[in-house]
Amino acid sequence: MNKGAQLYEGKAKKVFATDDPQLLIVSYKDDATAFNGLKHGTIEGKGVINNRMSNALMHYLEKKGIPTHYVEELSDRDTVVKKVEIVPLEVIIRNISAGSFAKRYGVKEGIVFDSPTIEFSYKNDELGDPLINDYHAMALKLATPEEIEDIKKYAFQINDELKAFWKSCGVTLVDFKLEFGRVADGSIVLADEISPDTCRLWDSKTGEKLDKDRFRRDLSGVEDAYQEVMRRLEEKI
Ligand code: TMP
Repeated sequence: MNKGAQLYEGKAKKVFATDDPQLLIVSYKDDATAFNGLKHGTIEGKGVINNRMSNALMHYLEKKGIPTHYVEELSDRDTVVKKVEIVPLEVIIRNISAGSFAKRYGVKEGIVFDSPTIEFSYKNDELGDPLINDYHAMALKLATPEEIEDIKKYAFQINDELKAFWKSCGVTLVDFKLEFGRVADGSIVLADEISPDTCRLWDSKTGEKLDKDRFRRDLSGVEDAYQEVMRRLEEKI
């Protein structure tokens, strides 16, 4: 599979055309941003880890019956994915209070919920990815009612699978962000990535943060945290 023209460069990935109009190549960078691009940095080796971790988790989810965009890992940083039309919603599932949830509702981090929560943000950098509900998303024609139902069903299934998987690695899945897309036949598949950039992962014993919050919050040992979760995942997968 040959890399064709670069179609897009995002904050953490580049996207290239291929010979097949239904397939793209994504290439993971070490660049990291936070707070809607206000904070910039590099996390050495992140691209390699996020590529391999996201592929391994999507492959795992496919086996559990969740459709994803994943096709084939080409190299350390490059992966073939199905071309999708991204639904412009960030889908956030939370099992434990943290981050913007704790801030918005004035609660401490670490409260374990009786059942997981779901929320949507409208993917729009100019507006700062504002929170949005199902009805607003449908009013803005970002997704149909059927698509929203599929997205919610998949998001909770993914949470059940990933929570159990990470638990077996001694890691607590606190919360995470998903993106979904439409493939050629119009059906919904999981897209984007699942990585320490997009999940909060805490060591189950010590509570140590093993994810991008170390970068967001200027904590030391960012690279070590990414390597540690990758090492634990590779032992299990
Ligand atoms: P939040 O608590 O800041 O809303 O983040 C919830 C989850 O979503 C957390 O696991 C980090 C992830 N996330 C992203 O993947 N991209 C983003 O731009 C933001 C703000 C959060």
